[in-house]
Amino acid sequence: MNFETKTSGISDTPEAPDKASTTVERRSFLGVVIGGITSGIGAALALAIGRFTVEPALADSKTEQWVDAGQLTDIPEGKPVKRAMTIVQEVGWGRFHEPGSVWVIRNGEAITVFSAVCPHLGCSVNASAKGFICPCHQSSWDGAGAKTGGPTPRNMDTLEHRIENGALLVRYQSFKQGIAEKETV
Ligand code: FES
Repeated sequence: MNFETKTSGISDTPEAPDKASTTVERRSFLGVVIGGITSGIGAALALAIGRFTVEPALADSKTEQWVDAGQLTDIPEGKPVKRAMTIVQEVGWGRFHEPGSVWVIRNGEAITVFSAVCPHLGCSVNASAKGFICPCHQSSWDGAGAKTGGPTPRNMDTLEHRIENGALLVRYQSFKQGIAEKETV
C-alpha cells in the first residue's frame, strides 16, 4: 500500500514554501530599496529644477543699476534738468527695458539727483516755479525736494550719483510708494 508514501510525500516537503517565501521577501526588500533610491533621486532633481527655474521666476524684480545721465557740462547751473534713460529690469528669467527719468540740480560742484517717480502713487513729477509738482494729485515739493503740499507721504527720493570722465552716473533705484519711509522695492 502506498497510501503512506503519498501522505508522507506531502508532509515531508516543508522546504518548498519557505524558499518561495524567502525569495518573495528578498524581492520585496529590493523593491523597497530601489523605490527609495528612485524617490530620493526624483526629489533631488525636483528640488534642483525648482531652485533654478521656479525660484528665479518668482523672485522680486530688480531695477537697481548705475545709468549714464549725460555729461556734467550739459547740466545748467541752479536749474532742474530732467534726464531720460533706459532702465533694465530683471523679472524672473526675463530682462525688460523700461523708460526711466531723474531730475538733476547742479549748484557749482554740488549735484542733487531726484527720482522723477512720485512717492505717492508713482506718477511722473514735473518741475514747477517753486520746485516740483505732481500732475496726478497735486503733490508739491520745494527746490530741495522737501514736501510742501498734497498727498505725498514724503520728500522726493534722492538717488546716489558719481562723476566718471565728466559723465554723471546715477544709481537708479525704485522705491515703495505711499509710505512715509524711503524704502527700496
Ligand atoms: S501720484 Fe503724485 S500726487 Fe498722487
